[in-house]
Amino acid sequence: MKKNREDMTVRELEAEVRKHNRLYFLEHKPVISDEEFDRLVEILREKAPNSPALTELVSDVRATGVKVRHETPMLSLDKCYDEKSLVDWASKFEGDVIASPKIDGVAVSLRYDRDGRLVQAATRGDGVEGEDITPNARRVHSIPQDAKSLAKKGKIEVRGEVYMPLSVFARYKGEFANPRNLAAGAVKQKDPAKTADYNLSFFAYDLLGTDVATEDEKLKRLAAADFPTFEWKKLGREQMQSAFEYFIKRRDKYDFETDGVVYKANSVAEQKRLGATSHHPRFGIAYKFQGDSGVTTLIDVEWSVARTGAITPVAIVEPVELSGAMVRRASLHNMGYVRKLGLTKGAKVLMMRRGGVIPNLESVTEPGKGKIDIPRACPSCGAPTREEEDFLYCTNAKSCVRSKIAELEHFVKTVGIDGFGDKLLEQLYESGIVTDASEFYELTMDDLMQMERMGETLAAKLLKNVESSRSIPLSVFLQSLGIRELGRHAAKILAGFGTLKKVTALTEEELSQVHTIGEVIAHEVVEGLKKKKPLIDKLLRHVRIEKEEAPARGGRLGGKSFLFTGVMLAMKREEAQGLVEEQGGVAALSVNKDLDYLVVGDGGGAGSKLAKAKKLAASGGKVKIIEESEFLKMIKL
Ligand code: IVH
Repeated sequence: MKKNREDMTVRELEAEVRKHNRLYFLEHKPVISDEEFDRLVEILREKAPNSPALTELVSDVRATGVKVRHETPMLSLDKCYDEKSLVDWASKFEGDVIASPKIDGVAVSLRYDRDGRLVQAATRGDGVEGEDITPNARRVHSIPQDAKSLAKKGKIEVRGEVYMPLSVFARYKGEFANPRNLAAGAVKQKDPAKTADYNLSFFAYDLLGTDVATEDEKLKRLAAADFPTFEWKKLGREQMQSAFEYFIKRRDKYDFETDGVVYKANSVAEQKRLGATSHHPRFGIAYKFQGDSGVTTLIDVEWSVARTGAITPVAIVEPVELSGAMVRRASLHNMGYVRKLGLTKGAKVLMMRRGGVIPNLESVTEPGKGKIDIPRACPSCGAPTREEEDFLYCTNAKSCVRSKIAELEHFVKTVGIDGFGDKLLEQLYESGIVTDASEFYELTMDDLMQMERMGETLAAKLLKNVESSRSIPLSVFLQSLGIRELGRHAAKILAGFGTLKKVTALTEEELSQVHTIGEVIAHEVVEGLKKKKPLIDKLLRHVRIEKEEAPARGGRLGGKSFLFTGVMLAMKREEAQGLVEEQGGVAALSVNKDLDYLVVGDGGGAGSKLAKAKKLAASGGKVKIIEESEFLKMIKL
């Protein structure tokens, strides 16, 4: 039978304490509750206040690499890069906000026992389990080894950041990429003496295990107990952005690297109410000075023409994830920047999302082999280019860019993608994000968010509009290509051939034989389709072409063809053409021997078409010349 604890000898009690410590800290299989363990320690303390088992540190006898399970998970903070997101975050809770600089170091958890002794230090690890670094933490001079005033007979945990001061890092510059990496390595040394040599420092940012009601109070208590704390501010909502700017200005004055500002709800009750996602607590957010950076490979440089005629280089890179978004391209600003960076194809380049949003190619970390040519001809219109200091210009600026933007406009209008007005198209084109119609389908939220006056709601709507036009009827697709003479009616006729493949295989000769299509149109269309082959191929990677019903040959108008001339009074010409098609007729494009009816509008103004039709009729052609009113009767209006 097991002995009652009260009846145990000191030796037995010591063995029990050590056993449960081992089960808890080393094997992560506690078999008694925390309260029971506390009682056990209490009994031993009464019987043998100086027992080594009470002060012995489990961690001191452990090898590095030992895992420690966090009592409360150590989550990381969500990030944001603009004021709007910060304000959105703060709208979810009541009360003040605490702001402090975000220190770029290594998160650690420090546990103090009820007598205020530091008993365990651990890294964050994966947030659930970290690595034991107790002996090392004892050698970080700014980590208090006791916290008596805070513990007050209860266990506490202090969380904070171990970092390498910039003044210390200066000695290692060149050897290490940044102070954070060096601090991370230094804190995990096998030999604690080595950790000591690195002169690490510590800042506390959280106190667990007390009933303090606010963050402000926690920080005050930590500071009073000799825990180093950073500069912090208690703010009302309207002061959040100005505090951000304040900390940006203070950046150079700190002896540590800071990459943003941390905001937290001040009220602990509100923090509890908010809860957490699987990665981040909702009570806090890190507003970063700038986006993440990463190294990737430069594939090529494309050149896009602005309305001003300036030809801007755009870097096309191997996709790299930065601040949560895939980055594939970045403006290179001007030709001078390409030269200054010494860019080459295949180079390893450092990309950064400035202000957290706009991707920027910062520098070359390793040159590549491919030369980058500065274009001698405008990539848009082929006109010669001209260099002026850092800039490259198209010598035919005006007509060149407007025509490109007009092409994009024609595409969105034809396929029915709403919301892309002239200004937006201009920005998208000039930034090199949408340079042809296929690139609408590659747009991302981040691309759109770079545009002026763009909010998330609008951007999401635009993307939705693009999404809903991934299935396009063949005639609409053909018309959207912006080929001369390939308007709505020619497109309808072409769609009658059934598939895009059949349409693009048509020769000029075959097409000119088609009812109502003459030689001129056939020539333009066949040539145009050839020229647009690269665009067609690119579009086909994103859109599906819907087969169309062949125009009904039956119906009231029984396949007869109609051409309109002069001003119609009852309706617009386009409406009349639509009605013809609806009722099984064909809206013809020109006067030729196949034309059945030429409709003369009641508003006058009939010209060459009428003359031509009269001539045809006189020479025995089948064409009938009818008035608008007669046409209306035919379609029963
Ligand atoms: S408050 C959920 N304040 O950044 C933890 N953390 O990504 C809230 N950090 O885990 C911590 N400076 O390691 C807080 N002034 C600061 C901080 C700070 C750096 C670290 C900390 C945290 C991580 C969040």
